[in-house]
Amino acid sequence: MALTVEGIEKRYGAIHALKGVSLSIEAGEVRGLVGENGAGKSTLGKIVAGVVAPDAGEMWVDGDPLRLRSAADALAHGISIVAQELAVVPHLTVAENVMLGREPRRGLAVDHKELRSRFLELSEQVGFSLDPGARLGTLRKSEQQKAEILRAVARDARLIVMDEPTAALSSDEARQLVAATRRLAAEGRTIVFVSHHLDEVLAVCDNITVLRDGRFVRTGPSESETADSLVTSMLGQHLASEYPVKSTPSRTGTPALKVAELSSSTGLRDVNFEIWPGEVVGIAGLVGSGRSELARAVFGADAHDGVVQIDGERTRITSVRAAIDAGIAMLPENRKELGLLLERSVTENISIPRLSSLTRFSRVSRSAERQSVGAMLEKVGVRASAADAPVGTLSGGNQQKVMFAKWLMTSPRIFIADEPSQGVDVGARARIYELIAEMAQQGMAVLIISSELEEVIGLAHRVLVMRKGQIVSELADESVQAETILGHAFGTAAAS
Ligand SMILES: Nc1ncnc2c1ncn2[C@@H]1O[C@H](COP(=O)(O)OP(=O)(O)O)[C@@H](O)[C@H]1O
Ligand SMILES: [Mg+2]
Repeated sequence: MALTVEGIEKRYGAIHALKGVSLSIEAGEVRGLVGENGAGKSTLGKIVAGVVAPDAGEMWVDGDPLRLRSAADALAHGISIVAQELAVVPHLTVAENVMLGREPRRGLAVDHKELRSRFLELSEQVGFSLDPGARLGTLRKSEQQKAEILRAVARDARLIVMDEPTAALSSDEARQLVAATRRLAAEGRTIVFVSHHLDEVLAVCDNITVLRDGRFVRTGPSESETADSLVTSMLGQHLASEYPVKSTPSRTGTPALKVAELSSSTGLRDVNFEIWPGEVVGIAGLVGSGRSELARAVFGADAHDGVVQIDGERTRITSVRAAIDAGIAMLPENRKELGLLLERSVTENISIPRLSSLTRFSRVSRSAERQSVGAMLEKVGVRASAADAPVGTLSGGNQQKVMFAKWLMTSPRIFIADEPSQGVDVGARARIYELIAEMAQQGMAVLIISSELEEVIGLAHRVLVMRKGQIVSELADESVQAETILGHAFGTAAAS
């Protein structure tokens, strides 16, 4: 199936995710789609597969215009997606998941024997070996993903979008997938292959398209590309001006936070680092490199092994409560998951971390609370009139500022911010950057995780680069540069 898209536009509120993207893919082609986190790859993939509707733009399939109304509609036209967020049915078996909607029947009943034999045929064709009878929910993500790929083939998709298909796979499994992808293309299927692993993209794709900041940058044949040429196009020019001036931390004496030999079942392996008071340390790395897992472990949200010292004292962080008591605060990646109670008022949300100290003196503290909350709202830049509004009614930027307010009330020693500017408009973003710089100036140790490299570079004094659950490189001051960070994140640079 040949695909052409032209002038694709997509906005999510204030975020302009795709800015007039046009491209053409030939039938039987494997097309790579690369770009930094947030470049718009997944959004484009979802638009092609009917999961997300574009705000503007046209699409043609085999020369005919096509306007998709839904993913089901796309599937009816032979287009399928294996998304980053898998769409499997956990309580059904592997074979049932793969054949979902295509179950062979005998009369009205599903013909299980036939279903199984079609499944095995399909697995052989694609080159995956999966146990057809296993409940999918009990399998590892990599196997669930294989089932999704098989399902796309079972549904006779002629164009398959694979979004980061190897992110959860071992290197062996990734090789199998690459081989399977080539086989699918050899049968005339068209594949859009989104991946952060440039070596894989170079190996499997005929041509590679680079997106940057929602824009099409260029398409080139894989033979004439290298990991370096792709990285250079992915980066382009960055603006540094919107960031506050950095202070100069001393990095002497006792670190505010010292982490040694940290490992976890979420994939962290022997992580060691320290942060001094007044320092902003950035964590960079690709999706799945372990950045958020590291933050969650230090914040006690996930269990871990290893040693954590705060101001030189060994501290056992066995829960979020223990972390908060030890002076750690965290702005989670997903505000809804670990952060805010959306139906509760701004004031209530800000008071939550200190609730234990408030209940004892409930009457006196009520008005004291309103006052201190008001002052804090002013500091972070949220209108005081918003104090009684449910947090869920605020914009993303204001919600994030409320999170800052909530944690600043606890006067933390260590502040962890996971994607602090995600889903935040430009104005709020500038204020958030200032708050982070101010916190460091006041002697807090700040750990920032961001998929936006320029944000890490703009805010951090030092950058730790993660890859596969480990810190593979540490860059400070002048060596904090995009090319260097990405080189380590992708594993194309020598370890330092
Ligand atoms: N459902 C959504 N709501 C709001 N913003 C979104 C949504 N999906 C993506 N975005 C934003 O759109 C931009 C592009 O995202 P995405 O297409 O996922 O990029 P990529 O896959 O290249 O990392 C990012 O800034 C992202 O935060
Ligand atoms: Mg993506």
